[in-house]
Amino acid sequence: MDVKIALLPGDGIGPEVIESAVKVLDEVCEKSNFSLSYSTYSFGGNSYDKFGTPLTEETLQGCYNSDVILLGAVGGPKWEDLQHNLKPEAALLKLRKSLGLFANVRPAIVYPSMFGSSTLKEEVVRGIDMVIFRELTGGIYFGEPRGIDKKQGWNTMLYSEEEVERIARKAFEAARLRRRKVTSVDKANVLEVSQLWRDTVKKVHNEFPDVDLNNMYVDNAAMQLVKDPGQFDIILTSNLFGDILSDVASMITGGLGMLPSASIGEKHSLYEPVHGSAPDIANTNSANPIAAISSVAMMLSNSLGMTKGAEIVESAIERVLAEGYRTQDIALQDSTVVSTTKMTELIINNIEDIYNEQAIGVFLL
Ligand code: IPM
Ligand code: MN
Repeated sequence: MDVKIALLPGDGIGPEVIESAVKVLDEVCEKSNFSLSYSTYSFGGNSYDKFGTPLTEETLQGCYNSDVILLGAVGGPKWEDLQHNLKPEAALLKLRKSLGLFANVRPAIVYPSMFGSSTLKEEVVRGIDMVIFRELTGGIYFGEPRGIDKKQGWNTMLYSEEEVERIARKAFEAARLRRRKVTSVDKANVLEVSQLWRDTVKKVHNEFPDVDLNNMYVDNAAMQLVKDPGQFDIILTSNLFGDILSDVASMITGGLGMLPSASIGEKHSLYEPVHGSAPDIANTNSANPIAAISSVAMMLSNSLGMTKGAEIVESAIERVLAEGYRTQDIALQDSTVVSTTKMTELIINNIEDIYNEQAIGVFLL
């Protein structure tokens, strides 16, 4: 039976990078005799323009009924002045909440050929290999009461023990497959909600005595991320803190256009690049498709059981970068600057090469 993929290209550069991601996914699936079917849905600002809402019932049902979701990006200046619940971002929040996507997984790694691209010194960047586990369906993004009147605006940062437990468990489980080190980030010196967070994480930690737990205040964590990012293995944190820290983490790797993410729940999972919709370069065939392609690699290993396919995609990206090809956002002085479609084609060619090399390797054995 076909695996059903829901595509939500979204706004700005979203459709262009999703087109690239789908080409790569098709290539890997063809090589592995794996069959997929796609359904594409409106989502975000373009959905508002067509239907007067950023998330239609059809899109939501389509996502419910799919096995996996692949999303481009949402938002843009065109929709900035809409009321809150009509903004493209509101569609993303509602989708996350409705599908129960409570765990947002954001790896921040640096390909060796990208060491020189960070704003930080190369020796600081060399050590970066971390994954942020951001709680995605609770905290201040969703807490009630919330509101705004003429003189005040208010939101509520609220977490239940159960919400903290399930994201903490995911982070500890992931740590077991890595360097066994979790840094839980909160603001327990000031916020009661963070005290609950810290107490709950410590409790869950009892189930994982083989993993180190370190608790850190969020202001210090922001500083440590730019001072010595190599110290982090897994960062476990709440919705708002995770939003902020993952932008910091991704930028110090040298390219927001490079990083993938997965949002995972009990039944559903959604993959999307960490970067935004970059409306200024939309439709210019210059967006960096690597984050979207890398999100496909995450999908292959986490949701489709194709770990080998995922490794091949990652190796293909690495080879293309090592040959000096770059989209404009990550170009250095001596790079060969290429378009979105050219970058995609180069990655696909390398995927083919790697499959062929592996076939010959097997033959020679
Ligand atoms: C992200 C984005 C979203 C968030 C926006 C678009 C609602 O910044 O995925 O990090 O704040 O969660
Ligand atoms: Mn963000």
